[in-house]
Amino acid sequence: MDITATTEWTALHRHARDQQAAGVDLAGLFDADPDRAGHCTSTVGDLVVDWSRHLVNDGTVELLLALADRAGVSERIAAMLSGEPVNVTEGRPVLHTALRAPAGEAVVVGGVDVAPAIAAERDRTGAFVRALLAGERRGATGLPIRTVVNLGIGGSQLGPAMAHQALAAFRSGGVECRFVSNIDPAALASGLDGLDPAETLFIVVSKGFATAETLANARAARAWAASVLGSEAASRHFVAVTANRDAAIEFGIEPDDVFATWDWVGGRFSMGSAAGLAVMAAIGEENFAAMLAGMRAVDEHVAAGPAASVPMLLGLLSVWYRNFWGFQMRAVVPYSERLRLFPVWLQQVIMESNGKRVRLDGSPVGCETAEVVWGGVGTDSQHSFHQLLHQGTTAVPTDFIVMARPDADVAGAAGAAERHEALVANCFAQAAALAFGSPAAEDDSHRELPGNRPSTVILAAELTPPVLGQLVALYEHQTVVQGAVWGINSFDQFGVELGKTLADAILDDLRAGAAEAGTSHDPSTRSLIAHYRRLREL
Ligand code: F6P
Repeated sequence: MDITATTEWTALHRHARDQQAAGVDLAGLFDADPDRAGHCTSTVGDLVVDWSRHLVNDGTVELLLALADRAGVSERIAAMLSGEPVNVTEGRPVLHTALRAPAGEAVVVGGVDVAPAIAAERDRTGAFVRALLAGERRGATGLPIRTVVNLGIGGSQLGPAMAHQALAAFRSGGVECRFVSNIDPAALASGLDGLDPAETLFIVVSKGFATAETLANARAARAWAASVLGSEAASRHFVAVTANRDAAIEFGIEPDDVFATWDWVGGRFSMGSAAGLAVMAAIGEENFAAMLAGMRAVDEHVAAGPAASVPMLLGLLSVWYRNFWGFQMRAVVPYSERLRLFPVWLQQVIMESNGKRVRLDGSPVGCETAEVVWGGVGTDSQHSFHQLLHQGTTAVPTDFIVMARPDADVAGAAGAAERHEALVANCFAQAAALAFGSPAAEDDSHRELPGNRPSTVILAAELTPPVLGQLVALYEHQTVVQGAVWGINSFDQFGVELGKTLADAILDDLRAGAAEAGTSHDPSTRSLIAHYRRLREL
């Protein structure tokens, strides 16, 4: 269905035009409804979501919900949750929610209940982590493992690295975890810096086990380990998480050390799977389970009534701005040092999922799709890009995330409570300044902040494993809502394939060292290759 051809779409266009012509402004919306903040604050799990500073009234929300209804968003979510092959271009179900479903709940994929396989893998990863932390799983020379290095990229790194940092307060200290993703040799070099191969374990996380960056790093890491331990012993220092078991075994990893993920778990949605093994090693099984329970709380909230859910509302707000206001971006600013990687994780979730230009049937989508997502951590971002948020010529709807209490491990530090309070005050102040601005002082337009710039504030008591899980699922579900409105496939990523193929062809040429760059390349690439060769020799 072409959603842009529906009466619901037209009604929203008309509504947006009317609102814009009438000069809708946030101050006016609050004046009109003294309890707007109360009306426009929702809760999901432990999260308080204040969406009162959005350019919407009751009528807008009704029209957006009507649009979602027309697009069949609830039905699409239900189809996803029940294991239908909603990833139509790859003929796969999309069941990351099954990873956090209560034990014993059947999850049927192609007529087979995969819940026992999920439970078995959870048991295996749990046992592995217990053995690691107890010093029972040792290196080849008999020394205990002190450092775990996650080798993976994209969804096989972003979520786990984000969670590892977010939950620093919950690390047991049993093992140190590092993450290496980039094929740039500097990445592995710093990942290995100061490590002893005899006390290091590598987790190669790759759903397909064919990703060039990950395999190159895994080979280099193995050579590094083998140079000290010998090649046979080095393989004891590698485990894998993959849906391509045979390739991992062929790489030299013991069959018992291969943990499963499945083709029905998208990489960017996979942090609740064994792909989170490094996180589990860092925070322990119980905290990992608590994070999954947090995700589950939001899954259940959505499953209970997608149309009335908070992710539905937030997803529709992004559609409102993207399609009816023409805003191109969304900023995400956690006021939490430990959530520094959250915007980077979210970039893949939203932009790889919904950066699409055709609908499910292959026809052009006919409207804008995913917004550009970027951000940084507050308060640092205030001293960097907030100037543009406040006075730039483009409005950037902004999500603020902040906790009421400091992270447990720093709460006792001298003055931590006061500094955390200042952090919170800054967060609230930014949302207020964006919304209400400030008038020109003595007609000095340089000092005027126009205000009327929308934001969401997400508040929770403390950054715990369940709260992190809830945040993750809140954004995952919003992404699914967006994609369902636009009628696109949020679960494939064919756009990244061409670059990989071209890189392979260019690399072949660079390695062959031919005097002339291969004629198969375009003229611009040939010219770059020539410059590269000259510079390399300088
Ligand atoms: O190149 C994109 C991508 O396929 C992502 O979707 C994925 O998260 C990443 O590469 C890593 O893939 P894999 O886990 O198979 O190594």
